[in-house]
Amino acid sequence: MNYRKLRVVLKPFDSLVRRFKHSNSSKSVLSGKLNLPPSERNKAPILGVLEKYFDKTKDGKVLEISSGSGQHVAYFAPNFPKLTFYPSEYEESLMDSIRAYAAEAPAKNIKDPVSIDVAEDWTKWNVPNDFDYAININMIHIAPYPCTIGLFKNMGQVLKPGGLLVTYGPYANNGVLEPQSNRDFDKLLKARFPGAGVRDIQDLIKLAQEHGIRLKSMEDMPANNKCLIWEKIQ
Ligand SMILES: C[S@@+](CC[C@H](N)C(=O)[O-])C[C@H]1O[C@@H](n2cnc3c(N)ncnc32)[C@H](O)[C@@H]1O
Repeated sequence: MNYRKLRVVLKPFDSLVRRFKHSNSSKSVLSGKLNLPPSERNKAPILGVLEKYFDKTKDGKVLEISSGSGQHVAYFAPNFPKLTFYPSEYEESLMDSIRAYAAEAPAKNIKDPVSIDVAEDWTKWNVPNDFDYAININMIHIAPYPCTIGLFKNMGQVLKPGGLLVTYGPYANNGVLEPQSNRDFDKLLKARFPGAGVRDIQDLIKLAQEHGIRLKSMEDMPANNKCLIWEKIQ
């Protein structure tokens, strides 16, 4: 991702927070669907990865950590009618957008979003602990590192043995971050958000291992991003 892309990713959240802080009638401002252009662009390629790894023939549950606007869950869920999707958010002001997208989705397999701080223990999340799949898009590099630690720690608890976690975003590997646009993005993230930054796949592998999770495969995605497919060890 480059600087322009970062501004596009973060601008809606900035303006949302500003409007929330300065408005007495936050509900009217926030009741609609928030449109994040990057989510609109990456949802089809990510769906392609989910279709490769998610079993469409069996009933199951999917937890999304950091659903953002709700654009992803509303786009994915109709393609997996046997799976029930559990969207979640840390930022309460995004719940209405998630609900609005879910209400319009041509499928009714999306639960009401739950409030989740991924850095907290899953027992505070109000979700079951037998998920077949989990999704986490564009959070690991944006949120402080304790959120990444919490993600793997909690996935080690809420995924079934053999369950899969799909993470999406830019990643370094073995200390190498390519191309230049991702290095610029990393610098900008670190300057703007203390504790944020593009993570190294090798560090994530070590962290995941501590919580009974292994890296199953990697998929190259458009715009120098990757999907990492993680498996809870049986
Ligand atoms: C760039 S947005 C990505 C949102 C969405 N997944 C997407 O791709 O459009 C980063 C997300 O990380 C979430 N986040 C930040 N801190 C978090 C925390 N402690 N627990 C869970 N999510 C968090 C934000 O609320 C936001 O939804």
